[in-house]
Amino acid sequence: MAKTASFLLLPLFYYLFFFFFATTTAADAIINTQMKVTDNPADELVEVINTNRTAHKSSSLYSNQGLACIALQYIKAYQGDCKAVGGPKAKKPFDSEFAETFAPACGVQVSTLSPITGRLLGCQSKYAKPPKAFSEILMENQKSLDILYSKNHTEVGAAVSGSDGGGPYFWCVLFSSGKKNSSFVLDGGVAKVTKPGCFSGANDVCNGADDRFSSNRLLTFVATILVAVGCVFGL
Ligand SMILES: *[C@@H]1O[C@H](CO)[C@@H](O)[C@H](O)[C@H]1NC(C)=O
Ligand SMILES: *[C@@H]1O[C@H](CO)[C@@H](O)[C@H](O)[C@H]1NC(C)=O
Ligand SMILES: *[C@@H]1O[C@H](CO)[C@@H](O)[C@H](O)[C@H]1NC(C)=O
Repeated sequence: MAKTASFLLLPLFYYLFFFFFATTTAADAIINTQMKVTDNPADELVEVINTNRTAHKSSSLYSNQGLACIALQYIKAYQGDCKAVGGPKAKKPFDSEFAETFAPACGVQVSTLSPITGRLLGCQSKYAKPPKAFSEILMENQKSLDILYSKNHTEVGAAVSGSDGGGPYFWCVLFSSGKKNSSFVLDGGVAKVTKPGCFSGANDVCNGADDRFSSNRLLTFVATILVAVGCVFGL
């Protein structure tokens, strides 16, 4: 009796093993495709900004990694509080935080901090693709357009971050009049990694909405377990 059962169970385990393996591999493939499309939302935002500026006969801006990492720290200063971004309760980090907190967190040499000539900041509970974040969240009014097209900027850094558990999603663009090689210089040439969140200029793949994808993965896992349990009971 027991012998018959194990005889039946062995192929079942093989089946479950391959089934699980196949579904997670398929899920990984989907995740990877999405990552390729997404690549890095902060870099995409910089591209949208530069395309829009050049179409408007403004110069294309240098994508500065150190400045972008600082934009991510700027977002973190809000501690996930969307309401502090705009409206009557709007807050702004102190200028002193650039030298005291943001630069050290990124490994930016404080002596190379350069003037910030503009800032765009937005926050929304749902994740948006970069072109949509640009036109619907960051470009609210004429003032945003003036900031976007200002001739004072030479470089740009963008960041997007959800707080630890996903949304709300903050978008921050900082503009500077600094010189390409001598502003926001990073110790060792690379910004310290400060997850969660993505910033531009680092040539890396980053997912602004990573929580959503990992929960997809979890769902696949749970579904596989349920199917497996169903198979066992079906027997
Ligand atoms: C640039 O962005 C502004 C604000 O979203 C938009 O109104 C304008 O059409 C854009 N220009 C181009 C050439 O895409
Ligand atoms: C550019 O910089 C000058 C001098 O600092 C300032 O007066 C002007 O308002 C700035 N322009 C814009 C569009 O920010
Ligand atoms: C800036 O970088 C370029 C290319 O990397 C280099 O040729 C140039 O000498 C640098 N300028 C300064 C002021 O360091």
